[in-house]
Amino acid sequence: MIYLDNSATTFPKPLSVVQAMNEATRYFGANPGRGGYALAIRASEEMYKSRRVLAEFFNTQSEENVVFTLNCTQAINMVLKGFLKSGDHVVVSCLEHNAVMRPLKVLESKGISYTVADIVPYNNDETMNNFRKAINIHTKLFVCTHASNVLGYRMPIERLTAMAHQYGIMMLVDAAQSAGVFSIDILDSGIDFLCGAGHKGLYGTMGVGFLITDKSELLETIIEGGTGSNSISFEQPNIMPDKFESGTPNLAGVVALRYGVQFVKSKETERIYNHEFNLINSLYNNLSKNPKIRLYTPPLEYGKIAPVLSFNINGYDSETVAEILSKNNIAVRAGLHCAPLAHKFIETEKTGTVRISPSVFTTQKEIMYLERVISKI
Ligand code: ALA
Repeated sequence: MIYLDNSATTFPKPLSVVQAMNEATRYFGANPGRGGYALAIRASEEMYKSRRVLAEFFNTQSEENVVFTLNCTQAINMVLKGFLKSGDHVVVSCLEHNAVMRPLKVLESKGISYTVADIVPYNNDETMNNFRKAINIHTKLFVCTHASNVLGYRMPIERLTAMAHQYGIMMLVDAAQSAGVFSIDILDSGIDFLCGAGHKGLYGTMGVGFLITDKSELLETIIEGGTGSNSISFEQPNIMPDKFESGTPNLAGVVALRYGVQFVKSKETERIYNHEFNLINSLYNNLSKNPKIRLYTPPLEYGKIAPVLSFNINGYDSETVAEILSKNNIAVRAGLHCAPLAHKFIETEKTGTVRISPSVFTTQKEIMYLERVISKI
């Protein structure tokens, strides 16, 4: 099987990640923070090591700023529902995933409004202007994907964060598609809330995401429960990361994520990006010669687009193309990719698109095989 659905989750995983899952389960699978015996202490230490590695990778001051979640969606919900109050207004980009749009829809009924700012491909100045125009006196938060899961566009999150702060607005970045592909420096950029998935470009396993913030005091909790700390009290602890980590964590997943991040570090983010960009760029160039194929982005520009390519074949439904590819042993995702807003932007909300997303393990040979199969459709 040629797996080209790495935007959904990377597969395969590095051997070190698989081994880490195995070893955590076999050798120190006690409940972290819940016991004074050696195995529970070891489990806590392993959680701490993972926190440390993520804190360093994204350059946040303290490992206590790193909260492990179930996934990126949970992290985004924690910020939107923990931060926004009735009367607040939010500006989002036109590329946001339902992980953002569905919670915002729920929050609308609680008096929270939002405006969608259109992006202008490859023109960050214009994109910035659109965000600026969408601000009103009630705007409290910008929410922006770092890279679209449908079109790959890389958003100017550093500039948007600077602009948000000029107006006293906070910045939430959805790094689900970008972490491990584009570098992110929290201290340098000032991002207030970084939400990410562990199982995509960081090569961890499914079931782990993260919220990184040094603004925990601005967030109310949306989940409360046991943390292993201050158990006498019914009050949710205020200390980080306990405030946001109620219930037993996915220890093996958190440990495996550390090995995933170490794998990315050893390969280097920029080299991973180069490899994947070259693959997607050669595919783009090949497909653009075929008059039956509709592409949705201008020619790919290095550094400005994550390695994700959407297309359609004239006369074919996107799901039908995915089925034909599947029969030829190629795995891709078709449809709306849980991002109807992005599809509305390119006017494909009725048809969806076929999406190709490579990983560090994808080869040029595999892309050439894909090209041959597409050319025969
Ligand atoms: N959000 C993931 C995707 O784009 C699951 O496929």
